[in-house]
Amino acid sequence: MDPSEIRERVLDDHENLRTRLAMVESLSQRADDGEVYALDQLRDRGDELCRKLRRHLDMEDLHLVPLIQETRGREAARQLAAEHREQRLLFDFVLSRLRDAERPTRLVCREIQAFIDLLRDDMDMEEEELLVAAERQRRRPDEGASA
Ligand SMILES: [Fe+2]
Ligand SMILES: [Fe+2]
Repeated sequence: MDPSEIRERVLDDHENLRTRLAMVESLSQRADDGEVYALDQLRDRGDELCRKLRRHLDMEDLHLVPLIQETRGREAARQLAAEHREQRLLFDFVLSRLRDAERPTRLVCREIQAFIDLLRDDMDMEEEELLVAAERQRRRPDEGASA
């Protein structure tokens, strides 16, 4: 994949993930308001969201991490890969909370909201990184093409 394809792929995934995050957020709010069906749906959608997120991270590890290494250096790439490892642990944590029938719904919903906020910030940050990477490659097209 060339850098512009990687950017497109990441942005496409993010758009899709943002739609899913909004859906999960709305279910979480309804569950928090006491809707029992919303809690069941939240479990299903949360599960599905985490699966999509994992696939997204796999794709980014494969394509985005090397691109960042090329444009921002080894340390930035190492940091992104480390964040992805932490995020995978976070997915397991959030899923275990969602599946825990004993846990008060209000607490689960707060954790879900914090999780959603974090993922949105993360996507915003990655998109800024992509802009920086695009700008660098525009200035140094020969180096960028050697990927
Ligand atoms: Fe990422
Ligand atoms: Fe991402």
